[in-house]
Amino acid sequence: MDIMNFIGRLHPLVVHLPIGFLFLALLVEWFIGKGKSNSSTRIVLFILILGALSSVVAIVCGWLLAMDGDYETSLLSWHRWLGTAIGILAIIAPIAKYFSKKQLYRVTLISIGLLLVGTGHYGGSLTHGSDYLIQPLKGTVSENNFDLFEIRNPDSIIVYTSFIQPMLERKCYDCHNSEKDMGGLNMDSYAKLLEGGDHGKVVTNDPWSSELILRVTLPKTNEKYMPPKGAPLNYNEISLLKWWIEQGSDSLKTITEMEPNKTVKHILASNYKIDTSPKTFVERVQAPSVNASILDSLTHLGWEINQIAEGNNFLEVSPKNKNLLSKKDLSVLAKIKDNITWLDLSGLALEDADIGIISKFKNLTKLQLGDNGITENGLVSLSSLKHLESLNLANNPIQSENLDWAKPLTSLKRVYLWQTKTNPDSVDRIRESFPEIQVIL
Ligand code: HEC
Repeated sequence: MDIMNFIGRLHPLVVHLPIGFLFLALLVEWFIGKGKSNSSTRIVLFILILGALSSVVAIVCGWLLAMDGDYETSLLSWHRWLGTAIGILAIIAPIAKYFSKKQLYRVTLISIGLLLVGTGHYGGSLTHGSDYLIQPLKGTVSENNFDLFEIRNPDSIIVYTSFIQPMLERKCYDCHNSEKDMGGLNMDSYAKLLEGGDHGKVVTNDPWSSELILRVTLPKTNEKYMPPKGAPLNYNEISLLKWWIEQGSDSLKTITEMEPNKTVKHILASNYKIDTSPKTFVERVQAPSVNASILDSLTHLGWEINQIAEGNNFLEVSPKNKNLLSKKDLSVLAKIKDNITWLDLSGLALEDADIGIISKFKNLTKLQLGDNGITENGLVSLSSLKHLESLNLANNPIQSENLDWAKPLTSLKRVYLWQTKTNPDSVDRIRESFPEIQVIL
């Protein structure tokens, strides 16, 4: 049993008593003391004596607590000596009051008031970290200082400088910096962090043999738990730290280069609004710009043409008026073949021979061929569409026993085959042999 340690830990509790009494004395003097009646003098004196006694108790507890702890020494010494000064002044105050040393009394009381503010601030900084109080004003509360980040592209966010370093700075630097490297560990720079502490490296290839992870995942009651004082690392912070170590604890790699796992993806999305899902073809690739007059002429023919997104040159094309359009109008679309990524050719009475030209539309990701006269023989001409993800063949005389024609379509994810002549029995076989393709019947 460590009774000294126990008494020391009463400090954060006891310390509020002198704060209350001393401020109360100040307030009573300020607002009621003017009357100078005997009874008000005695009340103030009583409060001051309580203030002095409780200060002494709080100071004793405080000194005991400081012995047990790994506090940041510069903050601690400010807090310790300002607190002790308050104790001395708190003893002087009732004496000055009793002997009516007005000048001394006034200076003492005002000094106490000012010192209380300073001491309280250093005390708070000791337990919560030095910028705890002003964090909300800076808009940098806990790990979400990322709101200041304007660029949310995972390709350009460096994991170490954006997450790891700020995290260690928030929660560990107080005791692990160039001036004070407790346990021989200095986290001021990447190089120093990798050097490790008294017991060697704190970061290895494996998170679970890295002292940095082991120390922050111990039970909080373990004396080796880090940080021994102040706010602990939370689940998100530990997950990011672990991931960073798993991925080789590099100082320059970006999120994309570090391959976020599921947990990390989730944390990045929900806490930092960073989307790490892989980009689609049309997001990755830039299409050439198109001449407005070409678009105009195509629109006049009866095609409806739209950009798929603002600032993206990829186009979505569909027949505006199916009666106006005929097969031959399909060939003129070839003028903008590299721009078309969604193409709707449904209900144009197309046959196998007509769709050969589609093989030139290499940037297609979505193709709608429903309500035509296409058979499985025509589908072979689609084999060059390496980016095609969705193909609608509904209501065509297709009698496909297998999807062999789809083998070259390496990006294909969905095929619509309803109202075709495909035998429902063969669909089961197709689904088995192409598990990555969703067949909709
Ligand atoms: C309040 C002071 C304090 C804070 C804050 C603090 N540490 Fe420590 N740390 C120590 C002390 C003291 C030691 C040496 C005693 C020991 O090894 O337990 C130490 C030692 C370590 C060691 C072992 C170094 C070695 O080679 O022996 C690691 C690793 C470590 N700390 C990690 C952390 C991490 C990570 C954080 C932040 C989450 C952190 N510390 C925050 C005080 C602190």
